[in-house]
Amino acid sequence: IPVDPFDLVIFGGTGDLARRKILPSLYRRFLAGQMPEESRIIGAARTEISVEEYRAMARDSITEFVPSSKRDAASLTAFIDHLRYVAIDATGTQGWQELREEMREGMVHAFYFSVAPSLFGAIAERLHEHGIADGNSRIVVEKPFGKDLKTARALNATLAEHFTEQQIYRIDHYLGKETVQNLMAIRFANILFEPLWKTEYIDHVQITVAETVAVDGRGAYYDTSGAMRDMVQNHLMQLLCLIAMEPPYHFDPDAVRDEKLKVIRALEPVRPEDIVRGQYAPKNGKAGYRDDAGNPDSRTESYIALKVGIANWRWKGTPFYLRTGKRLRARTSEIAIYFRRPPHSIFDDPEGGRENVLVIRLQPNEGINLKVMIKEPGPGGMRLTQVPLDMSFAQALGPDGSDIPDAYERLIMDVIRGNQTLFMRGDEVEAAWAWADPIIEGWETRQERPHAYEPGTSGPEDALMLLHRDGRRWREIKE
Ligand code: BG6
Repeated sequence: IPVDPFDLVIFGGTGDLARRKILPSLYRRFLAGQMPEESRIIGAARTEISVEEYRAMARDSITEFVPSSKRDAASLTAFIDHLRYVAIDATGTQGWQELREEMREGMVHAFYFSVAPSLFGAIAERLHEHGIADGNSRIVVEKPFGKDLKTARALNATLAEHFTEQQIYRIDHYLGKETVQNLMAIRFANILFEPLWKTEYIDHVQITVAETVAVDGRGAYYDTSGAMRDMVQNHLMQLLCLIAMEPPYHFDPDAVRDEKLKVIRALEPVRPEDIVRGQYAPKNGKAGYRDDAGNPDSRTESYIALKVGIANWRWKGTPFYLRTGKRLRARTSEIAIYFRRPPHSIFDDPEGGRENVLVIRLQPNEGINLKVMIKEPGPGGMRLTQVPLDMSFAQALGPDGSDIPDAYERLIMDVIRGNQTLFMRGDEVEAAWAWADPIIEGWETRQERPHAYEPGTSGPEDALMLLHRDGRRWREIKE
C-alpha cells in the first residue's frame, strides 16, 4: 500500500547510517511501489557538495548495501531522481533558507536526525525559527538516546521544547524486525500459549543476542558504552517487554507502549552476583577487545549476562536470563521459554518428567521450535523421547516469506504513515535507564573488571555458573 507523498529530510545525509540503512531501505520501498512519485528525499549535511555528487554517493551506497539480485540500474536511476541535497550548518545560519524552499505544501514532512544527539537541540530550534517544521512534522531520532537517565531526560526535554510526543519517533531497530513483531502475533493471535504464559507454568526465560562481529571501527563509541548500554538497555529490554507484557487492549501505539512501560517499571534491581561481564581476548593474531577499543586498560564489557526478575503477579518467581556479546560462536538471536516440568509423571521412564521448551528464533533462520515429548517407537514398553516441532517461517510462508524486509524499511514507512506503535515513547526510554543506571554505577564504583573470554566461544565461563547455580543451563549458541 503506498503511503502519502512525503518530503523526508535526512540530517547527517552523508553519514554512515544514511549510507548503510536509510537510503538503501528507501530504495527497496521505492522498488516495492510504496514511495509515491512526488516524494523527495533531501540529504542535509555540512559537506559542500552538489546534488549530482550527493546522488552519486547514494548510488554507490545502494550498490554497496543492496544485493545485486535486489536492484537494477533503471530503477536505481529513477530512485536517485527523488534526491535533493542542501549543505547546511546545524549550529549556524547557512542552508536553512534553502531547505525551507525544498519543502512543499501538502506533503508529509519528516526530519531524520541522523546526527550526534548534541545537535538535536540546535536543529530543532532552527527548524522552527525558519518556519520549516510545524505541528504536523515528524522527527526521527536514533540511539544512543542518552547514556543514562540524566542525559536521556535532558534529550527528551530538548525535543519537547519544539515537538509534541506524537511527533517524535525514537527508533529501536529491533522493533522493526519482522520476527520481533511476530512475538506479538504469536502471543496474542493464538489461544494456545497465553493461558500458560505465567510463572505457574514457565520456569524461566532465556533471551540471547549473540554476534560474531568485533567492535573494530567503532571502538571509540563502543568503549564509552559497552554491551549494557549498547544492547541491553534498548534491544534486549524491548524483547523482554514483548515477552512479559500484559495483552494490550488493542494494537495501538499507546496501548502497546503502556504495557511495555509497566514491565520496565516492575523490573527488580539486579544483584551484583547476578551479572557476568566479559571482554573478548586476542586470538590467532586477531586483536582483542582492548586493542579494538584503543584502550589498553578498558573496563568496558563486550559481553554481558544477567538474571533479571519481574516483580508482578504474572512473573514473580520466573527469572529472565539475558545475554549478549560480540565475537561469540555464532550470530544468533533467540528467545527460549522453558516451561515447568509436569507435576507428576505417570511413566517409569525418567524422561517423562522433562520440560517443554518453546524457542522463538529471531535471526537468522527465523522460526519457532517447540520441544515436545512423544513415545519412542517400538514394542519395548513406554519409553519417551523429546522431539522438535520445528517451523521455519521461510519454509512455511513460501518464497515470499524468505524475503524479509529490513527493519528500517518498515520503520521509515511507519513514520510517514504516522504510526508510533513500533517506536519508543519518552517515558519508556527513561524507565529503562532508571533500571540500568544503578546496575552500571554498581560495577563502576566496585571498579570491576570484565572476565576475558576466548573469541568464537559462548562467552566467559562464569556466565555458565549464573544458570548452573540455579540448576539450569544456557541453550547452546549455534546458527
Ligand atoms: C546496534 C548496536 O544497535 O545493534 C550494535 O549498536 C549491534 O553494536 C547491532 O551490532 C545489532 O543489530 P542487528 O540488527 O545486526 O542484530
